[in-house]
Amino acid sequence: MKVLESAVMQGFMRMADDGFCQGWHERNGGNLTYRMKPEEVEQVREDLRFDAPWQDIGTSVPGLAGEFFIATGSGKYFRNVMPFPEDSCAIVEIDPTGEKYRICWGLVNGGRPTSELPSHLMNHEVKKRVTGGEHRVIYHAHTTNVIALTFVLPLTDEAFTRELWEMATECPVVFPSGVGVVPWMVPGGRDIAVATSKLMEQYDVAVWAHHGIFCSGADFDLTFGLAHTVEKSAEILVKTLSMTGAKRQTIQPDQFRDLAKDFHVSLPERFLFEK
Ligand code: 13P
Ligand code: ZN
Repeated sequence: MKVLESAVMQGFMRMADDGFCQGWHERNGGNLTYRMKPEEVEQVREDLRFDAPWQDIGTSVPGLAGEFFIATGSGKYFRNVMPFPEDSCAIVEIDPTGEKYRICWGLVNGGRPTSELPSHLMNHEVKKRVTGGEHRVIYHAHTTNVIALTFVLPLTDEAFTRELWEMATECPVVFPSGVGVVPWMVPGGRDIAVATSKLMEQYDVAVWAHHGIFCSGADFDLTFGLAHTVEKSAEILVKTLSMTGAKRQTIQPDQFRDLAKDFHVSLPERFLFEK
């Protein structure tokens, strides 16, 4: 089967386009990667090439040796993923050491996978391990309201988790483990990849100060839905602070505990502090 005819590539393209339509992907902002299932690779194997040179990833991900990923290209625009997928995206294979990759499909006019490949792959490696292989999607988006909040909230996991939980009743159900925060760091390198992947041991969402978010999930719906929920919550907080500068009332710690009981989630007590 041709890559472009496969359900997985169609799902990848739709998610990229959904993110663009939300306004989270100005110019080449953001990137998306998907760890393919073995049967998805087999389905399209005849459309892949295996003669491209191996290139350094820039970090080591032995837990992903031999895996195939669909990835957006570096400098490519999410706006162009739907009309020009073969120019904007790639399928890459990881070598048996987990230190190199090669392009097996796409990027027909040249280029390389996203500059955030080290972060994506280190996050994939952690999530593959801690979820027993369930998580397959890593998504980085320049979510406007989350970014705005990184200029006014303390850059702590506690402050961001609690504020985002308070803004919409179902937030604690959608991201019960909370969100982690990475202070401002140079994007694209190993340091920000290491810091983010440490947070991914316990969270599915990491906020990059003054830059955007990273989300992890099992499939395109869950991962896009997670980013959408977090960003909408941030938008409500931005609106609330813009209207009044302070909340008159909000959800209280005991109310979160009641919610957790009824919705069968466990909310870490460290986020339910008295204010
Ligand atoms: P790429 O175009 O290399 O994916 O980079 C975009 C981005 O958002 C970097 O953080
Ligand atoms: Zn970015």
